[in-house]
Amino acid sequence: MDASTRTRSNSNKPKYSRFTQQELPAWKPILTPKWVITSFVIIAILFTPTGLLCLWASEHVVEIIDRYDDDCLPDSYSTNPDLYIQSRSTNKTCVRTLKVPRKMTAPIFIYYQLDNFYQNHRRYVKSRSDKQLRDPDEADETEDCKPQDHLSGNDDEPIVPCGLVAWSLFNDTYKFFKGNKAIDIDKKNIAWESDKKYKFGSNVYPKNFQKGGLIGGGELDDTKPLSEQEDLIVWMKTAALPSFRKLYGKINTNLEANETITVVIQNNYNTYEFGGEKKVALSTANWIGGKNDFLGISFLATGGVCFFVAVSFILLYVLKPRPLGDPTHLSWNRNQAAQ
Ligand SMILES: *[C@@H]1O[C@H](CO)[C@@H](O)[C@H](O)[C@H]1NC(C)=O
Ligand SMILES: *[C@@H]1O[C@H](CO)[C@@H](O)[C@H](O)[C@H]1NC(C)=O
Repeated sequence: MDASTRTRSNSNKPKYSRFTQQELPAWKPILTPKWVITSFVIIAILFTPTGLLCLWASEHVVEIIDRYDDDCLPDSYSTNPDLYIQSRSTNKTCVRTLKVPRKMTAPIFIYYQLDNFYQNHRRYVKSRSDKQLRDPDEADETEDCKPQDHLSGNDDEPIVPCGLVAWSLFNDTYKFFKGNKAIDIDKKNIAWESDKKYKFGSNVYPKNFQKGGLIGGGELDDTKPLSEQEDLIVWMKTAALPSFRKLYGKINTNLEANETITVVIQNNYNTYEFGGEKKVALSTANWIGGKNDFLGISFLATGGVCFFVAVSFILLYVLKPRPLGDPTHLSWNRNQAAQ
């Protein structure tokens, strides 16, 4: 071998490093039965009480839900609900009575719940213009909003806020009474602070909204900037699932057990056309949030499975012990034994 080849082969050799040679210190656990069983037992011990605690907290949330779309449609319109909703002269007032099952401590959250309403539909979600919502100089940014982009046939009259999401704004209203006394509803701060600050402009005002053509939903106060139209902001945070709740307001007084609450609803929103459902929900909240058993059940299920696995391993370990690193079950050993 001549000198030049040797230098070349030398130069190809990578520099020694512990990384390329895979000599870095590493954790090489030996999963002995004791170690494995102990880990499963610890997980079971931690998760089971946590699950019970979550279920207990969820159980203490008091919730009243009332579906009203069917009952609030007058019988004479049951075959033609569109006519009822779209007419300005029909009486949309609907009175419901609710009974408070247990004491509800303020703040009590009022939600409207829609079922079978696909706010996650691809074309619906995209039918909005975030630029326009933010910036008064971008009122013409409406190309994603078709067909709710301009007043019909007039390109100089952009709709602000444009698009189907804004156009379909929920427009039922609720009033609550205890006896003859109205209960105050606090509608301030129901939207996300960050939305009000960054996504909806404080100098963008509604324009040409719900004017002319078919009306899709609620109207907006033209004298208020979008950043103060909290119902719109809540509505435009599109829901991921076809059954969803959105915050309507808050009640800042306690409701006692067995009290009767009267709800006066303006049944304006058209869910009849697509078989949707409308519900009004009152709920208290604690550290776990609203009523939801899912978290507790998943903690309990995980804890239960770990406990079951731990017990099975203990039984296996007691009934059929094997020495650690036992080679008799390796395939070549098995073959030898068979021959
Ligand atoms: C409410 O929205 C419906 C469409 O869902 C519309 O037909 C109706 O005119 C609206 N009513 C009011 C009072 O805004
Ligand atoms: C509510 O009503 C139930 C049954 O009518 C009664 O047992 C309970 O004591 C009442 N609770 C209060 C706080 O009045």
